[in-house]
Amino acid sequence: MMHNIEIAQGVYSVGAVDWTMRNFHGYETPRGITYNAYLIVDEKICLIDTVKAPFTKELLERISQIIDPSRIDYIVCNHTEPDHSSALPAIMEKAPQAKVVLTSQGKESILKHYHKEYDFLVVKEGDSLELGRNKLKFITMPMLHWPDSMASYLTGEEILFSNDAFGQHICTSKRFDDENVITDIMHEASKYYANILMPYNRLIGKALGKAETVPLKMIAPSHGIIWRTHIQDILKKYEQWGSGYHDDSVIIVYDSMWGATEDMARRILEGVAAGGSSVKLHRLTTSSLSDIINDLLEAGGIIVGSSTQHNDVLSTMGGFLTYLKGLQPVNKIGAAFGAYGWAGGAQKSIEESLKASGIALESSELAFKWVADKEGQDRCFSFGMEFAKKLQATKE
Ligand code: FEO
Repeated sequence: MMHNIEIAQGVYSVGAVDWTMRNFHGYETPRGITYNAYLIVDEKICLIDTVKAPFTKELLERISQIIDPSRIDYIVCNHTEPDHSSALPAIMEKAPQAKVVLTSQGKESILKHYHKEYDFLVVKEGDSLELGRNKLKFITMPMLHWPDSMASYLTGEEILFSNDAFGQHICTSKRFDDENVITDIMHEASKYYANILMPYNRLIGKALGKAETVPLKMIAPSHGIIWRTHIQDILKKYEQWGSGYHDDSVIIVYDSMWGATEDMARRILEGVAAGGSSVKLHRLTTSSLSDIINDLLEAGGIIVGSSTQHNDVLSTMGGFLTYLKGLQPVNKIGAAFGAYGWAGGAQKSIEESLKASGIALESSELAFKWVADKEGQDRCFSFGMEFAKKLQATKE
């Protein structure tokens, strides 16, 4: 037997919990991942999303405890990324008459992924689907975070099936926000936003506007717990993150070959702290990219350092800067530093990358040959302090 949970009258959580998954295409997931799917049993039977293919058996077993899967009338595909759709071909074999409900971009994506023609029901913004007691209304959310993305809203029970939006990578045996430690849930929601949705910041406000036009008893994402007690808290956080809110904290991200750049990082940190901002230090060989980006989400400043190797940054730093450029954080100021041997290059390279990432650059002139002397160390400290003061001034 599986422990199925009826989250509302006739609405069941039937997805899978991937307790041991620690890496989701590069996003580190120390608390595992869930692939949530929901079964609505009304006059019509509707499955909201599927799961990642290796969990098909679990999904089918959960559904079979409630109804014969062949009775499914509709499978809503809110988003076609394989963590939500790769079980679809197997489910369609069990329910070949089911209509697959999705956006036109979703249809194109399913055809290109699975190369099978299903009975597609293409929906657009504002369309609805009668299920019996209740109906589903569709809210398109293009580029949050794929072109096909949408949410489905169940009237009557007032549940927003939001797919990736409002998700968190965390495994729990309890399905609701108030049954778990809320600080853990909010931390994972923030990390999810930072690593998945940050590049689409400018679209968040519009999507929230649509979601907030309907009464909400629950937000049921396709990753993590279901929001029912802290709905306003997570909506407010999305509004803040989408608007580019930041505080006056700073993150320092670096890697160092023989310790000279590391010493600079620590002296800059001391200066930032003396300047009154809170500050965190991340060495790229020991911190995960996903955690660094989570810390960046609400930080106002980022100071980045690397030793020079082959006239450029260390390879760890190259990976970080590429990731940062893709995320395009908004409303941040930044600076570069680093030590070099016979020729420099890392600092210039970092500065170019920060600019290309949309970060407003503060000139530091903190590039030292070999190891900084006392005067150089003091310059690092002073720069950190000035950086903090500048950041605080932008908040006033
Ligand atoms: Fe959870 Fe974009 O897939």
